[in-house]
Amino acid sequence: MRIKKLLAGLALSGLVISMAACSSGGSSGGASTASGGKDGDFSGHGPITYVQGKDNAAKMQGLLDKWNEKHPDEKVKYIELSTSADEQRQAMINNAQTKSDAFCVESVDVVWVGEFAAHRMLMPLPKDQFPEDKFFGPVWQTGLYRDNMYAVPFSSDGAMLYYRSDFLKEAGITEPPKNWDEMKTQCEAVRKLPGHENIGCYGGQLAKYEGATCNISEAINAGGGVFFDKDGKAKVNSAEAEKGLDYLVEGFKSGFIPKEALTYKEEEGRAAFEAGRVLFYRNWPYQYVLNEKAIPGKFGVAPLPAMGDHPGASTLGGHNVGISSYCKNKATALDFVKWFSSEESQQYLLKEESLAPVYDKLYTDPENIKQYPYLPTLAESIKNAVPRPQVAKYGDVTAAIQDAIYPALQGEKSSKDALEDLQKKLESLKD
Ligand code: GLC
Repeated sequence: MRIKKLLAGLALSGLVISMAACSSGGSSGGASTASGGKDGDFSGHGPITYVQGKDNAAKMQGLLDKWNEKHPDEKVKYIELSTSADEQRQAMINNAQTKSDAFCVESVDVVWVGEFAAHRMLMPLPKDQFPEDKFFGPVWQTGLYRDNMYAVPFSSDGAMLYYRSDFLKEAGITEPPKNWDEMKTQCEAVRKLPGHENIGCYGGQLAKYEGATCNISEAINAGGGVFFDKDGKAKVNSAEAEKGLDYLVEGFKSGFIPKEALTYKEEEGRAAFEAGRVLFYRNWPYQYVLNEKAIPGKFGVAPLPAMGDHPGASTLGGHNVGISSYCKNKATALDFVKWFSSEESQQYLLKEESLAPVYDKLYTDPENIKQYPYLPTLAESIKNAVPRPQVAKYGDVTAAIQDAIYPALQGEKSSKDALEDLQKKLESLKD
């Protein structure tokens, strides 16, 4: 409901390239792509590549091997990029700018779909060849740009709160915190224990990159703030946004969030959590299997804690597979995309990598719930997740968010001043 309202509101804006709500301007009418090929022209069988960010659980090759066994003449070669979302995006942009055929099928962050589609980096896909009704919550729409499909979801992302259950237990605490106040009280109790005096209470992805945009958005949304109002006008300089952002800004000031969190991308923070340097850590579901290996029995997951009266709401994350306009063997690529986004692949990625599926039924499967008891919680997190602003100039918007808010996280500016700066930058960005 919340998402529908937001999309409908944003669609009114000239700045916005709405996905679901704005259905004119179809691009599948046989227009030339930048590669010189025709939209809808999926010809060419043969070897392909699949490109994504670092595979932390190191099980992706196992999935690709399954394809390769069945397609000896159309093998897929795995190209692994860095762990940083920004660097992955840049590598894909560079590939398109040089019109290289090195990248064929790409794992596209939900937040790049509009931008890549607008720049014709991706092929429009035959939407009716994918089972829309099986997709879960808001994820299907993340693959659309002007009502055409450019990338098919294969893994969603909703944030959860990871906590060190071993440390809480030592302090006599059996339930994870439901809100920020409880997080504080619980952390104070843990800090009284010998050996934990200096533990960081809370961390998220707060280095200056896309992850910070996700975390900052969550704070602003949880305070009741928005980046754009229902008419699509920048409206981030509100008391609500300030209240939400203050949780992070005051968190750093008071030492509740350790300074080192300013260097955390997903993996740096996970390392700190596993090493016991931080008690509560906000991260995506992929962390679960890795924690199970590194600190079995010593952690738990819970919904994001409420901020004041507002329940914690995750930023909507996730990855979709799209086909680069410069890919050579597009027929094979399309077959691969269908298989890669299928139930079989999602089930593999859930089991082996704890990636969040995009089909409803996998969240209610009893075997899956047995392996991952948090699945119903995650399903809620994703259903209520808030998309980041869906604008063609997303790269500029996210940079503006990070540039304006970062000084506040570093303690150099108040939340109010940082939000005023952001308001001005957002107003100056036009499509
Ligand atoms: C995860 C999310 C993605 C987000 C990124 C930020 O990969 O799925 O949507 O942009 O984290 O680091």
